[in-house]
Amino acid sequence: MVRAQGGQPRRHLSEAATYVLADSLEWLDGLPSNSIHAVVTDPPYGIVEYETKNHRKLRAGRGGVWRIPPSFDGANRGPLPRFTVLSPQEISNLHHFFETVGRGMLRVLVPGGHVFIASNPLLSTTTFHALQSSGFEKRGEIIRLVQTLRGGFKPKGAEDEFPEVSAMPRSCWEPWGIFRKPFPGTIADNLRRWGSGGLRRTSTEEPLKDVIVCSPTRGAEKELAPHPSLKPQRFLRRMVRAALPLGIGIVLDPFAGSGSTLAAAQAIGYTSLGIDRDPEYFAMAGTAFPKLVALQVRGR
Ligand SMILES: C[S@@+](CC[C@H](N)C(=O)[O-])C[C@H]1O[C@@H](n2cnc3c(N)ncnc32)[C@H](O)[C@@H]1O
Repeated sequence: MVRAQGGQPRRHLSEAATYVLADSLEWLDGLPSNSIHAVVTDPPYGIVEYETKNHRKLRAGRGGVWRIPPSFDGANRGPLPRFTVLSPQEISNLHHFFETVGRGMLRVLVPGGHVFIASNPLLSTTTFHALQSSGFEKRGEIIRLVQTLRGGFKPKGAEDEFPEVSAMPRSCWEPWGIFRKPFPGTIADNLRRWGSGGLRRTSTEEPLKDVIVCSPTRGAEKELAPHPSLKPQRFLRRMVRAALPLGIGIVLDPFAGSGSTLAAAQAIGYTSLGIDRDPEYFAMAGTAFPKLVALQVRGR
């Protein structure tokens, strides 16, 4: 088991799941090298949306980069961050952030350890390139087919004038980059030595496939864990399961939010470690974790 360093608050959500309240960039520095077997994470895609200024606006219901998408069916929508407004400087900061996180993850992962990292179609090029720059080998992407409410709108204020025009496509997919820490020798040797280097198959007959249909997180699940970026258990459990080829080791989520990745790991029977710097999400995980673990989902 990882020995957590420093005096940061931590909570043992179960015997197999630990959540630390800390800044990941700093906290990763104190973890021993080669101590983590996989990372499954849904980071702040654009960084700015979880910076104090915008996060405060989200909580006060006052916008910033967070916008309520237009309603088509009368249902209440949660706010979504807008990434079209990022400046060139903010994009460059984003690259720097993920390169730094990438270097930290590379050091703590065992050779052959995988990273599964969520992004979105506007920013994934930057995020994924930064991870490659930090030393990871790109191993593909999982495409989550999911109907979002992003994009596809008519030109603002001139909807009637240009009824056949939209500013950009309506986004119907979410990319998850797959990266691996390089290792010498064969996968078989690495599996024997570190328990890593490959992906766990869905069954002995079927490998993990890179297109997965998964609807947005449902309202009932969001009530259990009211994080603005909650990922559904149905999808997370598939990612987490695949990330440990032999089912042995520790899964890290450095941007743990409600603790949903830790809950997915627990449901599968894996050991996990989560980090988030926000005290409200740290507290939320305490109550959300057992409920998310108990959630019945279809499929793996
Ligand atoms: C997209 S959310 C993750 C939500 C999570 N997937 C869930 O289902 O609950 C990103 C999280 O990263 C956290 N965060 C942002 N910057 C951070 C940093 N430097 N260190 C640790 N956590 C950070 C935010 O507080 C936020 O909860």
